[in-house]
Amino acid sequence: MITLSTISDLRQQIGLWRSSGERIALVPTMGNLHAGHLTLVRRAREQADRVIVTIFVNPMQFGAGEDFDSYPRTMEQDTAALSAEGADLLFAPSVTQVYGNNREQHTQVEVPGISDILCGASRPGHFVGVATVVCKLFNMVQPDLALFGNKDFQQLMVIRLMVKDLCLPIEIIGVPTVREDDGLALSSRNGYLTAEERQQAPELRRIMLETASAIQSGERDYAKLEKKATQELEKAGFSPDYYSIRSAVDLSDPGDEACDLVVLAAAYLGKARLIDNIQAHSPSG
Ligand code: PAF
Repeated sequence: MITLSTISDLRQQIGLWRSSGERIALVPTMGNLHAGHLTLVRRAREQADRVIVTIFVNPMQFGAGEDFDSYPRTMEQDTAALSAEGADLLFAPSVTQVYGNNREQHTQVEVPGISDILCGASRPGHFVGVATVVCKLFNMVQPDLALFGNKDFQQLMVIRLMVKDLCLPIEIIGVPTVREDDGLALSSRNGYLTAEERQQAPELRRIMLETASAIQSGERDYAKLEKKATQELEKAGFSPDYYSIRSAVDLSDPGDEACDLVVLAAAYLGKARLIDNIQAHSPSG
């Protein structure tokens, strides 16, 4: 596996692959790779000749007081894991390489509306940071396809809308969430959980499965379901940020018509902010 850190080296290598007609997949990450990321790499290998993985802890998507400085950076293990998984190229640029020296006046990419709800409401500016860096990575690599985990459901929707609005010729593939045996979605932030919190953490998934099953049995009082789930989360030791049933098509509040729904939640357990989602079909929609 080739490891590069400058855009000019990256472009030179990609140029060689492109000139021999190879199909290129991109897997953008912030590192501290787990089995979920490695699944993205595996899927990418099935669909492209070359797989490029980026590791960049993007300062623009962290708010003041968030965990940018303490975000786990595990480059040595990540490099070994990617190499074992058969990635062709790891691109790990510095902050200056990506943003230059004047981040305050850097161009930003904003997908309005959807970026301001749910995670975007609790983390103002987060999705502008995500859209901006993903757009830049797309322009650096110009991949044929890019893969993202479904765990970040709202992020995936922001990226799909950005690609559509900016007419970027890139296929976006969402890959199912990888979970621990007890249902906890894999996340780099799970490492913040104490042993006791780790025991409690799967309650989030259990409660969400309960909500999905109620929706699937025809319950349409979504406010009641959200309230019940929030109370259960609190009882299990979480501090819920949001627990919301939305249209899976555009994340709008589901009216009486919507039948493709998604339950989304974010909740703190100690220092860790856990997010998860589950799609549910309402039979009466
Ligand atoms: O999901 C992530 O790890 C990040 O938000 C991403 C897509 C790599 C952008 O920094």
